[in-house]
Amino acid sequence: MTGKMHLTIATDNIFHGELIGREIIYMPSATSTNDKAFEIGRQRQNAPGIVIIAEQQTQGRGRLGRRWISPPGVNLYFTVLLSPPVPALEVSVITLAAAVAVVTAVRVTTGIHAEIKWPNDIIIGGKKAGGILVEMRSSADRIPLAALGIGLNVNMHPDEFPPEIRGVSTSLSAEYGASIDRAALLGAVLESLENFYKILLNGNKGALIQEWRRLNCTLGEEIAVQMQEAVIYGVAEEITDDGALCVRLRSGAVTNVYAGDVTVMNDLP
Ligand code: BTN
Repeated sequence: MTGKMHLTIATDNIFHGELIGREIIYMPSATSTNDKAFEIGRQRQNAPGIVIIAEQQTQGRGRLGRRWISPPGVNLYFTVLLSPPVPALEVSVITLAAAVAVVTAVRVTTGIHAEIKWPNDIIIGGKKAGGILVEMRSSADRIPLAALGIGLNVNMHPDEFPPEIRGVSTSLSAEYGASIDRAALLGAVLESLENFYKILLNGNKGALIQEWRRLNCTLGEEIAVQMQEAVIYGVAEEITDDGALCVRLRSGAVTNVYAGDVTVMNDLP
């Protein structure tokens, strides 16, 4: 997959699924594609399934209120608008499905051994190459909408990362050794999302969690979890059906973590 390709491409050439990518809206710039997705969701009745992709984001955001570095010309920033049947599908399970879909697409299209770090970081060689942010909005008069936002560092040069995250971040091209066709990768991710979202809608959450286990690099590892006000240390033992991480603490007790930032001790420089 060599040859740099700009995203100002005919989006007709990209995968269009039954559920995901019925319409693909390309924007040269957005504050955040998640914001744009909700805006379109408010304006249109049939918005679920639409994909919004931006060449750059001026206010890209990550989990836990962090900024998502979103320069133009190098990466993928996109959001799929979904209307999950509530309450059957919680945000955490959509997130797991998305992580499985992204890692599968990256492995198939590039051969890179990408992995999932709980809950939804895309990791290569212990460094972060992508992330997923699912946000839900609902109001009394509208169907609830989920914005499934995905950011992938595709062709970003390691020197382009801000110094404070340079040691823990990477891009697909840095690992692959050549630049990667972003349009082809986007198509592969959308197709993979369609497959795994259908598995979820068909009620096969167990199969999805099984796949998450196969692709993750967290379970069995000694970890630290930074939570809002505390850090806990232990071994990541399992993932529950609702996406929580079971951590065996040094005291021997087991606790379920629903939100936090995991550091795998073996990945520390
Ligand atoms: C994380 O790992 O913290 C999640 C990062 C999610 C980034 C993507 S880029 C597309 C979408 N728009 C945003 O503002 N964020 C998500």
